[in-house]
Amino acid sequence: MKAIQFKEVGGPDVMQLVEVPKPEPRPGMIRMRVRAAGINFADTFFRQGTYLIKPKLPDTPGMEAAGVIDEVGPGVEGLKPGMRIAAVGLKAYAEYALFYANQVIPLPDFISFEEGAAFPIQTLTAWFMIHTCHQMTPGQIVLVHSAAGGVGIVAMQIAKAAGARVIGTVSSDSKIEIAKKYGADEVINYETHDFAEEVKRITGGQGVNLILDAVGKPTFEKGLACAAPFGHTILYGRAGGPPDKLDVFRLFEKSLKVSGFVLYTASSNHDLMRRGIEHSFNLIREGKLKILVGKSFPLAEAPAAHRFIESRGSVGKLVLVP
Ligand SMILES: NC(=O)c1ccc[n+]([C@@H]2O[C@H](COP(=O)([O-])OP(=O)(O)OC[C@H]3O[C@@H](n4cnc5c(N)ncnc54)[C@H](OP(=O)(O)O)[C@@H]3O)[C@@H](O)[C@H]2O)c1
Repeated sequence: MKAIQFKEVGGPDVMQLVEVPKPEPRPGMIRMRVRAAGINFADTFFRQGTYLIKPKLPDTPGMEAAGVIDEVGPGVEGLKPGMRIAAVGLKAYAEYALFYANQVIPLPDFISFEEGAAFPIQTLTAWFMIHTCHQMTPGQIVLVHSAAGGVGIVAMQIAKAAGARVIGTVSSDSKIEIAKKYGADEVINYETHDFAEEVKRITGGQGVNLILDAVGKPTFEKGLACAAPFGHTILYGRAGGPPDKLDVFRLFEKSLKVSGFVLYTASSNHDLMRRGIEHSFNLIREGKLKILVGKSFPLAEAPAAHRFIESRGSVGKLVLVP
């Protein structure tokens, strides 16, 4: 089968299309014929060897995919060849990939393979932040950084469905319309404007109740200045570099809360995952959540796809089609 592989860590061009043996499912696993693999910003860290999970060289990137079950390993119940699924795992940039049965999400008919590949990591990350780490209530105001990106587009819609007012940030004016289309009431270009000052202006000095921040260094500390009293910042990434160390006494002045989120914490909790998946599918069914596949690339073009997501020019989710 064909797969993307890198033999050394580094820039996008370390990734190459190679021919490798089809993997055999081990106990508790299924094999998927991958129809679309999701690209996550974290894949670029994995490729560089700076992600939480380190590559075992030569390695294949890819943490999520959608497709059809092709073979079921020993001890797997309730999953059969031919089922349409999405799943979270490893080595998904390939024609076939193995996934643990407990990381499989059966796909409803109304979700295409490309949407399915876009679903697990970004939608569930957004849903858990808004409804588990935070308890969003109608009338709250949320600031979503990198609003036109994969997580951002979904997070704005989930927050909106929960009755929030949404302010998004983007790094170029070309992304403003798309952010508005997917749920932003207001959009700030945070490259040309001081977002904290803009938020204070937009909210009449009140500030925001929740900040979703995966940018890090350029936004984290500054965000505290535009948080409302009892406001909450969730740090869930570092696309712009790790934030500086926080002086926790800064939290006293407005009774602020800062928390972190990583999807692994939720993915080991079966009931929590079921709840997040069901609620998110319901939002899609009701037309309140639309998954935006911004661009799909043939599998061989994984380097171009990584360059695109790193360029800050992409919108929505990028997928690879083997
Ligand atoms: N904790 C978790 O479990 C979890 C799960 C999924 C994703 N994440 C994190 O969430 C963020 C979004 O992930 P995604 O896969 O949906 O990617 P994405 O948002 O589609 O793409 C990354 C975005 O980050 C923004 N960005 C800000 N500073 C940047 C920089 N210096 N270089 C490149 N991009 C920069 C860009 O938007 P603007 O330029 O418009 O700001 C860019 O479009 C990432 O930081 C990712 O690591 C975390």
